[in-house]
Amino acid sequence: MKYITGKSKPLTGKTRVASDKSISHRALMLGLINLGKTSIKGLLEADDVKRTMKNCRMLGAEISHNGDLTTIARSRVIEPNNILDFGNSGTGARLMAGVIAGYPLFSVITGDASLRKRPMRRIADPLCEMGATIHLRSNRFLPAAIIGGKLKGINHKNSIGSAQVKSAIMFASLNANGTTVIEDPKRSRDHTERLLIQSEANITVTGNKIALEKSVINRNLEIMVPADFSSAAFIIAYALLRKGSEITLKEVGINPTRTGMLKILELFGAKIEVTKRYEFGLEPVADLYVSYQRENMRGTEIPESLVISAIDEIPIIAAIAASIEGKTTIRGAKELRYKESDRIRLIVQNLASLGVKCTEYDDGFEIEGTDKIQNATILTDFDHRIAMSFIILGSVFENRLEIEDIESIQTSYPNFFENLML
Ligand code: S3P
Repeated sequence: MKYITGKSKPLTGKTRVASDKSISHRALMLGLINLGKTSIKGLLEADDVKRTMKNCRMLGAEISHNGDLTTIARSRVIEPNNILDFGNSGTGARLMAGVIAGYPLFSVITGDASLRKRPMRRIADPLCEMGATIHLRSNRFLPAAIIGGKLKGINHKNSIGSAQVKSAIMFASLNANGTTVIEDPKRSRDHTERLLIQSEANITVTGNKIALEKSVINRNLEIMVPADFSSAAFIIAYALLRKGSEITLKEVGINPTRTGMLKILELFGAKIEVTKRYEFGLEPVADLYVSYQRENMRGTEIPESLVISAIDEIPIIAAIAASIEGKTTIRGAKELRYKESDRIRLIVQNLASLGVKCTEYDDGFEIEGTDKIQNATILTDFDHRIAMSFIILGSVFENRLEIEDIESIQTSYPNFFENLML
């Protein structure tokens, strides 16, 4: 399905964007392994999370899902009687590989055409070092055949800064003999750590080191899922760039390992106001007020240290950079090539088709902002964040952009158009 951008209106009022995808996947997986009852409030209702829910059920979780409340009864992890298909979700596939590696079961994990192109050695290698048997297609890709059980703790340095790899090892370590130590020098998102602390697992976090011991989780757990900062990012961008906008976003997760975009926006000269702070379990949450500021914003050199905490927001940051005066450079972001699409290639190729001056680097790009773009067709390779970023860009410029494969938006943000009032 295609979406064609055109005339747009300012965004005003209050809204709550879709719930956090990262926390939703983790909450379901924790529910699968928790021997007690798990209640989840505000689980994200999007394709990626629905896949994880279905796969948790195939692995033995008894899940009831009524509107805002999802409950998972005491589960016993069982061998699935069919392939576990994670669709488009790298988080689902990689984290679940870590969960099932801890049990003496045979299972096969696969995904859609995009996920089957993404690297899987990054999780298979450490999980095999822990004692699991994992066979990957061409030794690199899904489908993966996994036989788990009898794991031992390892020392792992998360040098690529992947929260998915770190979390897969953390889940596996709960069923491993001995200590597992993970060093996370780049400080990737830490939702798994926070949820495991809340679950009273044997976990200690000291600086950028995480130490875990075998743990039986047997608690009545209540998990509240905040709105997803990565979804809020699109609304924030639209409000900053579309004259006349002012909007309050409710209950947005502002975990510091996720909000690098707020610092990047400050460097662009924009200010987002925090109007209320809360806590959902161990996760910091806030209401954010955003108003039109495009004329005060200027391009900048984005420090490499901010890349990891803004990794999923780089496509929308690129759209902002294209709409404001001056040059923006981003380097040290090679991981973008291994996301739902090769995001560096698609950002540069699509911006170039709009007449925006940009340069592609192996690990980033440079974009020169403009006040005029030309109409074009946008290729998305079924990547939700590329689709949403170019819908925002086309709408603030009020140009005719034909965005392909917008079904991908269902993977993370089903009420995107509704929230944008488009
Ligand atoms: C995620 C981690 C990040 C991020 C992805 C979600 C998670 O991926 O890009 O959208 O929930 O752990 P990597 O861990 O591969 O960097």
